[in-house]
Amino acid sequence: MTAPKKLFIKTYGCQMNVYDSERMAEALGGQGYVQTDHAEDADMILLNTCHIREKAAEKVYSELGRMKVLKDAKPDLKIGVAGCVAQAEGAEIMRRQPMVDLVVGPQSYHRLPAMDAAVQGGAKALDTDFPEDDKFKTLKTRSKAKRGPTAFLTVQEGCDKFCAFCVVPYTRGAEVSRPADRILREARELVDAGVRELTLLGQNVNAYHGHERGLAGLIWALTEIDGLERIRFTTSHPNDMDQALIDAHGTCEKLMPYLHLPVQSGSDRILKAMNRKHTAESYLRLIDRIRAARPDILLSGDFIVGFPGETDQDFEDTLQLVRDVHYGQAYSFKYSTRPGTPAAEKPQLPDDVMNERLQRLQALLRDQQQQTQASMIGREVKVLFEKAGREAGQMIGKSEYLHAVYADAPATVLGQVRRVRIVQDSANSLKGELIG
Ligand code: 5AD
Ligand code: SF4
Repeated sequence: MTAPKKLFIKTYGCQMNVYDSERMAEALGGQGYVQTDHAEDADMILLNTCHIREKAAEKVYSELGRMKVLKDAKPDLKIGVAGCVAQAEGAEIMRRQPMVDLVVGPQSYHRLPAMDAAVQGGAKALDTDFPEDDKFKTLKTRSKAKRGPTAFLTVQEGCDKFCAFCVVPYTRGAEVSRPADRILREARELVDAGVRELTLLGQNVNAYHGHERGLAGLIWALTEIDGLERIRFTTSHPNDMDQALIDAHGTCEKLMPYLHLPVQSGSDRILKAMNRKHTAESYLRLIDRIRAARPDILLSGDFIVGFPGETDQDFEDTLQLVRDVHYGQAYSFKYSTRPGTPAAEKPQLPDDVMNERLQRLQALLRDQQQQTQASMIGREVKVLFEKAGREAGQMIGKSEYLHAVYADAPATVLGQVRRVRIVQDSANSLKGELIG
């Protein structure tokens, strides 16, 4: 018997890339590949890339530079670029780095087996189509191998919103929802393999329309699956938060009280220039309605500072919105010019202005995150334990609010949801005591 070929995948960017990497590994599993954690052992290396900001995209070329040493040492090694940089730059990647054998976009990776056969024959393979034969029809079933208690499940891809800063409509294409019956089948397969918590993924997940009652309908259908204990979803657009989804946050026990709802800016002028199609006020009213349905919900968001034309006053409006909402946690970024997007044409702000604003915003968000964590002390939460901690006898998991929680517990808690009282908070996690 020949030894299996080894596949090393490095994943950048969002959670959907994590999901896609799993599916790529499964697709290549049929070609005799097994995954390795060590690039030096690999017969094929795939970089699953992100194009959302300039820094993310540039990382790919520096990583490819490092990989060249491995390819020089092992000429049979095949190197592939997948994901959003592959989609955005296509053949340009092979021009810049001729040692790259394979370039595959996020909608064509079901064709990896055929592409592998081509590169093994010494050819180059490039596929950045948005094919009619959707990848999930080809990659029907999931691996039956036992897995950890949490998993991602892509239910929707692409985006039709065209925010002026964003590459997603170009890299991931138009909004597409997977049919609910196929998602339910995949969810059952994941639960059979040990999954207890599913995070439903989409670039604009709450625009999901593969179920007649939208994302809320899909969530309710998923609650029927025995053994599935928790459901989350990310990432949402404020304008697609319909009443049924807000209500589900109040009434669906399996839906966790955590919501990532990016606003990007608190200035109406900038929101308009960003083509967000909502105002700061409409976002705040939406938050009121969500909190009315689920008062303890933990809110998360995304912010961009230094969008072209942003004045000091616009930035102050963003800080004010953050104070008004009070986020449990959030992500913030300096605006990054993305080729091909409408905002790329506009004059850019100086870097020092952007840096200063980012620091102020991050300080405020950090304060709010710390306050939220500190407010958990003394409270009882439910933790889904995922893995052993660094110290002997410690287990780590996530609370319903997505806080990392560690506690002294036997290994039998792994994969279970257990009651924990929070006793202490530290930088990025909470310490708790098992009480049930
Ligand atoms: N520059 C900076 N941040 C961006 N994001 C998207 N595009 C850009 C860009 N051009 C941020 C947004 C989005 C998150 C995924 O990344 O905040 O919600
Ligand atoms: Fe990055 Fe967006 Fe692609 Fe995810 S979908 S990898 S965030 S560019």
